[in-house]
Amino acid sequence: MPVSLPPALDLFLDLLRCPTCRTRRLHPGRGALRCPAGHTFDIARHGYASLLTGTRATSGDDAAMVRARDRFLATGTYAPVREVGARLAADAASEQTTVVDVGCGTGYYLAGVLDRLPGARGLGLDTSGRALRSAARAHDRAAAVAWDAFRPFPLADRAADVVLNVFAPRNPAEFHRILRPTGRLIVVRPTLRHLAELRGQVPAMVTIDPAKEQRLHRALDPFFAAVFTEKVEYSAPLTRPEAVDLVAMTPSARHVNRAELNDDGLLPDQVTVSVLATAYQPR
Ligand SMILES: C[S@@+](CC[C@H](N)C(=O)[O-])C[C@H]1O[C@@H](n2cnc3c(N)ncnc32)[C@H](O)[C@@H]1O
Ligand SMILES: [Zn+2]
Repeated sequence: MPVSLPPALDLFLDLLRCPTCRTRRLHPGRGALRCPAGHTFDIARHGYASLLTGTRATSGDDAAMVRARDRFLATGTYAPVREVGARLAADAASEQTTVVDVGCGTGYYLAGVLDRLPGARGLGLDTSGRALRSAARAHDRAAAVAWDAFRPFPLADRAADVVLNVFAPRNPAEFHRILRPTGRLIVVRPTLRHLAELRGQVPAMVTIDPAKEQRLHRALDPFFAAVFTEKVEYSAPLTRPEAVDLVAMTPSARHVNRAELNDDGLLPDQVTVSVLATAYQPR
């Protein structure tokens, strides 16, 4: 039996464009999205549309990472981060706001924004099928589409009021193209102090490059001007399973020896959460 169109995806048919033709709209039919030229994209039975066809994305979280992320985010440890992201997004909102979350993961932050904006619709883009499965269920008004952030987005020009980007890959030119001139880009990224205790004790954890912040500004500057930055920093208690999930949900998981994690006393029982959230306006 063909998969029916998820209601949240239906909300986005006016903004989605065929990724092959780039300009044509997509229409639902027989379990797929189709463009008038005959390009066809499956709707997964898990509720997301696979616009990324024929090519394998170069990056994306695997199932174990996504499960760890889902469990860890459910603990609420990052709730203050979600709160700030939602507040900055709400500042940019109009009555019927469209939010696009690039590298949405499980949809945790997108759902936070939609909770705060009852008239808004949200679209999450990610390369990870397993993450999109969660994102498609994250909120009634959240749709999920498989897409690679480094390719031109399958979206109309000026489609979004808010582009959300939390700990995820960035494409400044495409962010700019899909945002309305009055819209806002919200970028949340870690500071050097983020999870410092964990990085200190698990040598294989990927370190944060000190030049990262400078690189972000250089990449965004031709397209965006920063309007407001908020730092969120706090110490959070960490149970042992939470600490293991926190390592397992990062790319470091691939380099960490399970035996290392099982070594008692290695994992900290509290951790510093330290992020910057910036709202940018298009130039
Ligand atoms: C650190 S996670 C952050 C997820 C989510 N924003 C959050 O904070 O919970 C990075 C996400 O980017 C996705 N990702 C990696 N490479 C990508 C790409 N080229 N295009 C789109 N998403 C990508 C991963 O699959 C993962 O879900
Ligand atoms: Zn087409």
